[in-house]
Amino acid sequence: MIKASQFGNDFLWGVATAAAQIEGAADTYGKGPSIWDTFSKKSGKIKKGHHPAVACDFYHRYKEDIALIKTLGFSVFRFSISWARIVPSGHGHVNEEGIRFYHQVIDECLKQGITPYITLYHWDLPQALQDEGGWTAYSINGAFNHFVTVCAKEYGDKVKNWIVMNEPFGFTSLGYMLGIHAPGETGLTNFFSAVHHAALAQADGGRILRAEIKQAYIGTTYSCSEIIPFTQNEADLQAAKRVDCLMNRLFIEPVLGMGYPMADWDVMEKFSINHSTWRHTERLAFDFDFIGLQNYFPLTIKYNAFIPVLQAWEVKAKSRKKPHTAMGWEINGDSFQNIIRQFAAYPKIKNIIITENGAAFHDKVVNGVIDDAERIAYFKLYLETLLKAKEEGINITGYMAWTLMDNFEWAEGYNARFGLVHTDFKTQERTIKNSGYWFQDFLGR
Ligand code: NOJ
Repeated sequence: MIKASQFGNDFLWGVATAAAQIEGAADTYGKGPSIWDTFSKKSGKIKKGHHPAVACDFYHRYKEDIALIKTLGFSVFRFSISWARIVPSGHGHVNEEGIRFYHQVIDECLKQGITPYITLYHWDLPQALQDEGGWTAYSINGAFNHFVTVCAKEYGDKVKNWIVMNEPFGFTSLGYMLGIHAPGETGLTNFFSAVHHAALAQADGGRILRAEIKQAYIGTTYSCSEIIPFTQNEADLQAAKRVDCLMNRLFIEPVLGMGYPMADWDVMEKFSINHSTWRHTERLAFDFDFIGLQNYFPLTIKYNAFIPVLQAWEVKAKSRKKPHTAMGWEINGDSFQNIIRQFAAYPKIKNIIITENGAAFHDKVVNGVIDDAERIAYFKLYLETLLKAKEEGINITGYMAWTLMDNFEWAEGYNARFGLVHTDFKTQERTIKNSGYWFQDFLGR
């Protein structure tokens, strides 16, 4: 059986979470509303009308949850700071209770021998900033820089490891183009302006952390998916290439100083005409110490003339009779290796950490036991693949499982369970799933 020791002694093993998905205490202790608090109050936006108001109540239970991380055998805890808890109205005033809370979380990690990795933006924008246009407005960049500066000055003495952003493609596409995530905006104009301001913010955020924190270890994360053309026909190959520009290349290439992948995607070229700052490749670039890759599935893409802009269509795993998770996401170890290779081929990436990977299944609690064999098989497959990628010579230095415990899965509400630990959302009881015990064994603790 595969063991963590095969990855070497320095390899980091962690679990990842996000503030809005676990904390609860959404409108107390001085926190301002975030776009997810507002969005989830609108009817029909979140499955079954779920709401992040309480979530896993991590705000009050962080000590026992950090102890759980330790019990499972992980040594890294990736969590995010809620921007609206620190700067409730988006500008100016800093909420001391919020500041204190993250000091307590950090101190508890350090006390229990767990290394914190802090994400600065994991999708929960203060509503006050959305009222000014959110990521579509340039004013967000000043506000974000203020938030990053406050966090760096407060926590920089205790925390070395920082992640500026979580999956910028995720929140700009789902939240500003498709409207299925908060704030529910749609259209290409919104999308491309959100993209550009997020791309500026990721680089600015890196620069602020570098200036404020001596010996900071700074990264940022990207969702990534191998894009597999449905056939080798020219039309399918070109469709796959457009989707690759959008989903994999859009944010990493500007950070690496290459600018946006406009040459391979004419739509972007057209949208950029009125925006000279899109070509400010220097300001968009930052020399990150590591790049966080988050992989869940590959996409099989077919040309489709009826789809505006992309003229591409996903052929779902289910219709191709491929193994998939409860989200319908294809389980495919080779595609994990291929997408890691694709990113590793950028010469300027210094090292890669897998900052998220995991799966939702329809877990059942039987006599207090959650025998999630499918999740165990998933992690086994992905970790075996990761080992192969590492043995190929790719500089991968860590892996963080998504996620510690079942939590608020955005538009899916509490219906999609990704945790190694089961959360009973009525009682807040935590029960380690068999996949959690599997990790304990794998990590050899
Ligand atoms: C990526 C996101 O970062 C995380 O918040 C989400 O829960 C997982 N994917 C699973 O969908």
